[in-house]
Amino acid sequence: MHTPDNIAIQISPFGDPDQALQAAQQLSQQYQIPLAQDNQNASILLGWHQTAKDPIPKLALFQPESGAVFIDFTQGKKAHRRQFGGGKGQPLVRAMGKLENRLPNIIDATAGMGGDSFVLASLGFEVLMLERARAVAALLEDALRRGKNTATHTHDTELLDILSRLQLLHTNSASFLQDATDTKPTIDVVYMDPMYPEKKKKAATKKEMKVLQNLVGPDQDSQHLLQAALQAARYRVVVKRPKGAAIITLDNPKLTPTAQIASPNTRYDIYSIKAFLSAGLLTP
Ligand SMILES: C[S@@+](CC[C@H](N)C(=O)[O-])C[C@H]1O[C@@H](n2cnc3c(N)ncnc32)[C@H](O)[C@@H]1O
Repeated sequence: MHTPDNIAIQISPFGDPDQALQAAQQLSQQYQIPLAQDNQNASILLGWHQTAKDPIPKLALFQPESGAVFIDFTQGKKAHRRQFGGGKGQPLVRAMGKLENRLPNIIDATAGMGGDSFVLASLGFEVLMLERARAVAALLEDALRRGKNTATHTHDTELLDILSRLQLLHTNSASFLQDATDTKPTIDVVYMDPMYPEKKKKAATKKEMKVLQNLVGPDQDSQHLLQAALQAARYRVVVKRPKGAAIITLDNPKLTPTAQIASPNTRYDIYSIKAFLSAGLLTP
């Protein structure tokens, strides 16, 4: 489990100081992140962002070299991707596959900033988002709550429906999936998008990803997660990889993708549970 000591909570300078302190203390307790006054070494701060133009307070991550990083399901990139993002034909969605008479339900085992989950929910999938990094889980929780409030106030029933298809749990997915093996019939697809391996050329990395990289570091245990996912999923496991990256190697070298879907920068490795079961590579 990642327990970064480079993060602390900044009390909001906006609004009533007593309420701001209470909100910070509550967050600190819920996610076990110290207040900035108790961790002066923190290089990343979790706090509230608000501007005169956009006065709704948003939980955000701040680090010296980038401004506020927060999640917004109501506007910006995520809303844009919902409107113009390529619909059902996009590789991410095709990778989820089809069941006979309904859409598969999905566990997004690496929720991150919620981008992929949001696209899937906007196309009708029920998605359970799992995120183990406490600050990232806190951002997701805040964005879901804020998004639902905004959608309610603006009578945006479509957005409200999308957000109600997204559930969030702050947990380590590998343990969650191992514990969930008994309830296997309810998990159709496990989707995972582990952190990419560290790149030499970092300049082009997006602000959002930079903060994630500083917070959670490069991937170290996606093999373990993939193994747990293969045991828990009923229909398929989908792994997002950078274009040209090696597949995730497992102890059993025969457990390799049964199909792949490529897009310009990304590849989706698909592991069909049915194929593995009939080949005797997995036990029911
Ligand atoms: C590359 S990001 C995912 C980005 C996401 N697909 C999106 O669209 O924003 C990977 C995230 O997975 C999380 N993660 C990695 N392994 C995990 C695990 N075993 N359990 C829960 N979360 C995990 C990391 O903390 C990080 O936030």
